[in-house]
Amino acid sequence: MVEISASLLSLKNENVIQTLYNLETAKIDYFHIDVMDGEFVENNTVNRMTEYCEYLSSISNLPLDVHLMVKDVPSYISSFLVFEPNIITFHLEAAKDKEQVMEWIKLIKQNNVRVGISVKPDTQIEEVAEFLPFVHLVLVMTVEPGKGGQELIPKTIEKIRALKKYLQDNQMEVDIEADGGINLETVDYVREAGANILVSGSAITNSENYVDVVEKLKKAKG
Ligand code: DX5
Ligand code: ZN
Repeated sequence: MVEISASLLSLKNENVIQTLYNLETAKIDYFHIDVMDGEFVENNTVNRMTEYCEYLSSISNLPLDVHLMVKDVPSYISSFLVFEPNIITFHLEAAKDKEQVMEWIKLIKQNNVRVGISVKPDTQIEEVAEFLPFVHLVLVMTVEPGKGGQELIPKTIEKIRALKKYLQDNQMEVDIEADGGINLETVDYVREAGANILVSGSAITNSENYVDVVEKLKKAKG
């Protein structure tokens, strides 16, 4: 069964609380929290995402799927741990070497949070392979990280397929999360390629009917 993680990046600033209620009512599986530090990517969303997490901690029990697009990964891990997220994902490209990747994985795991490692569109799957035995999920970016509402980059579909094959060939139980440009036109391709957690932001939050869009995204043909 595919799970939907709703990105809050494209949320309009008016009646945020009502929007968060409406998303939960639409039966999303996670709130996808896009944390950007203005260094790893140009945008800075730290204050807004912290505010959303503060609201969510008082109005929702849905799990938080925190996507760190930051350079200083350890400090953002600790600042978002307070919200008891279900998942914390960092970018492979933020690490200076293998030791640092392993350190960050350990730091997240020792706080009983699922560990995700994310790769940008141009990062090859081979570069993340050695870490697969240690993580719970791989977040395959299907757009360049940094903003919502972008078009899905088609070559990333083949990357998802290659990753799925690698995991199957090596009998590894690692979730594949896809993130960026996922909407009613692209969802079947992403799902069929092997992603089982789909991040969707603008396709949901720009729509008139969240329930309808989430339902259709979930029905994606696998
Ligand atoms: C981009 C973020 C994505 C993005 C998804 O850097 O990681 O989560 O907000 O938004 P849409 O679905 O609008 O592409
Ligand atoms: Zn994201």
